[in-house]
Amino acid sequence: MPNPVLRVLAGEALWPPPIWLMRQAGRYLPEYRELRAKAGDFIALCTTPELAAEVTLQPIRRYGFDAAILFSDILMLPWALGWGLAFKEGEGPVLPRFETEADLALLDPARVPAAIGPILETVRRSRAGLPGTTDLIGFAGSPFTVACYMLEGGGSKDFGRIRLMAHAQPGLLARLIDLLVASTVEYLSAQVQAGADALMLFDSWAGVLSPLLFRLHVTEPTRRIVEALRTRHPSVPVIGFPRLAGVQVGAYAAQSGVGAVALDTGADLAIALSLVPAGVATQGNLDPMALVAGGRALETEARFVLDAVRGRPHIFNLGHGIVPQTPPEHVARLVQLVRSA
Ligand code: CP3
Repeated sequence: MPNPVLRVLAGEALWPPPIWLMRQAGRYLPEYRELRAKAGDFIALCTTPELAAEVTLQPIRRYGFDAAILFSDILMLPWALGWGLAFKEGEGPVLPRFETEADLALLDPARVPAAIGPILETVRRSRAGLPGTTDLIGFAGSPFTVACYMLEGGGSKDFGRIRLMAHAQPGLLARLIDLLVASTVEYLSAQVQAGADALMLFDSWAGVLSPLLFRLHVTEPTRRIVEALRTRHPSVPVIGFPRLAGVQVGAYAAQSGVGAVALDTGADLAIALSLVPAGVATQGNLDPMALVAGGRALETEARFVLDAVRGRPHIFNLGHGIVPQTPPEHVARLVQLVRSA
């Protein structure tokens, strides 16, 4: 029989729901900080399979989550395409800015297979090191969110550059998105061949777009990726995370072909669940700050999510990634709360 996460992704309503957490490997764990200090920089960590696989497994050993997620980053795909990338301490990612037609020529899909070699080796080692009862989730950024960082040259409060380009130079943005769609299909397909049991597309900035542009740059590229993956790997489900999509989550879930939609912290579960078609599973959406707070706040918020999703195919998770100040013992308490629901 498939493991719990895959069963939910196939449409089964399990109780208690399976649980894993976005960014479950990372700086809140002392064992991660220790290994990170040894690895040197973050890209070196992501491209050293023995270390990256170890980091993937750390939260599974500690908490026994139902799924592990490959330890990597959404920006490793543009990196593999030849786009510059650095992670500055305390600053986050820094990239060159994508601005003109000429920049398209700097992206070279022919580099990808060799560049992602170490990441695929991490997938193989992680799968081999996991218990048979734990699913392994491979992932990529969505083309839109990856393009957000490429156009800004890093993070941003409002991602104004891509929102302007979408209106003012639609052809240029469409060509960038098309290139990223094709590369993302190859990248995710290679992760499946290396042992990923399910896939997730992180679209962290989907919610900054107007509804017309959301359909064009979020739902439609996702649909193309899911369709291409389905012809190659019919049994491998895709979880989509259109963060901050609001009521557009309904159309996204219905039209993109994803097997599950991850709901962000602000999603009102009663409304979101009424909009998502019955055949599409959901994931989410505990506030990461409730996990930092712990105690009664954590119990109240976790129970609210559990009550709302009972009877639905749902994977318990956060509404966004774990933050570094999270006390590790609060994570253990959450797992216990969900498993005893
Ligand atoms: O979930 C996991 O445990 C798997 C690993 C993972 C990372 N990043 C590791 C990481 C995943 C799935 C991601 C996805 C990711 N990366 C997203 C989408 C999800 C989201 O949070 O919205 C985005 C937007 C990025 C881009 C990114 N990577 C930023 C903005 C930053 C800097 C902010 C930060 O948290 O430091 C990163 C760095 C990063 N990616 C770290 C980790 C563990 C911290 C690096 C370090 O250890 O110094």
